[in-house]
Amino acid sequence: MIVRPRRSALYVPGSNPRALAKSRTLDADVLIFDLEDAVAPDDKVGAREAVMRALREGGFGRRECVVRVNEQDTPWGPGDLAAVAEAGPDAILLPKVSRAGQVTEAARILDHVAGAERVRLWAMVETPAAVLGIADIARASTDVSSRLDVLVMGTNDLAKDLRLRVGPGREPLLVWLASGVAAARCHGLDILDGVFNGLDDPAGLAAEARQGRTYGMDGKTCIHPGQIAACNEAFSPDPAELAWARRLVSAFDAPESAAVNVLRIDGQMVERLHAEAARGLLAVERMLAEHRAEVASPEL
Ligand code: COA
Ligand code: MG
Repeated sequence: MIVRPRRSALYVPGSNPRALAKSRTLDADVLIFDLEDAVAPDDKVGAREAVMRALREGGFGRRECVVRVNEQDTPWGPGDLAAVAEAGPDAILLPKVSRAGQVTEAARILDHVAGAERVRLWAMVETPAAVLGIADIARASTDVSSRLDVLVMGTNDLAKDLRLRVGPGREPLLVWLASGVAAARCHGLDILDGVFNGLDDPAGLAAEARQGRTYGMDGKTCIHPGQIAACNEAFSPDPAELAWARRLVSAFDAPESAAVNVLRIDGQMVERLHAEAARGLLAVERMLAEHRAEVASPEL
């Protein structure tokens, strides 16, 4: 059940002050301030301080603020986790999660950080061990103290470690994207698709974002502000889908349908389960409408 929109999630390098400042003006549902892959070793400590300062200053409105920390076995990981949690982001994104224990260990550390009670954990799925053990990682969320809410596919790292040759259509990745979605759905988590590396290929981006939605993703991670609008569009229900959903719901809600589970509508066999899925889509649309109203509201 979707509780908030996560159609677009922009990685913002913590070491780039212009990008940090710009992120307050961008229409991304989620901002992922990055201390990991986007930041060179010499800039790690400065990036952590800049991200903490930005979080304390605020001004991000309705955008969900997430920080991607370094791995716990690097020189920066433990310091990142404790320091960032104190600055109160909505969530911390753990890179290269390969087993459920990495999530629960991070959650235990957060339990001892004052002010971090509400900080959630997100997990990057980007290693061979993660895709093979994805069901176990997602299952960690059945213990609420794990704080786990969202899986984020890291398709660049995954392709590298699996030695995939990924082209348009992403055929070698699809099995892993689909298993991620199945694991997320098993445990009520959201899941975000990997990034599209083409910065000057709007048609390729739009196609890949649509593919992600077709595969059941809740949104897509982005690397550049110019990718946000295409992801917001691809992960919003379109007018034709909404019209069909309203027809199904009203057909099944009609008194004469009360005792039937199957109907014929426009030459299609439609089951009550399709009407339930349609209600879900309409709920997403209501949430997005509220969200659009908030974005338009001057106090934010
Ligand atoms: N978040 C926020 N702002 C960003 C941004 C991002 N990810 N990427 C670019 N911008 C800003 C730039 O700072 C610039 O702002 P300005 O107008 O105030 O100067 C503006 O958008 C235009 O940027 P542009 O010149 O088109 O980008 P670039 O060529 O300098 O940089 C990248 C291209 C790919 C290096 C850069 O977009 C980037 O670092 N992306 C994030 C990569 C990342 O996080 N990777 C790890 C996760 S996969
Ligand atoms: Mg990575």
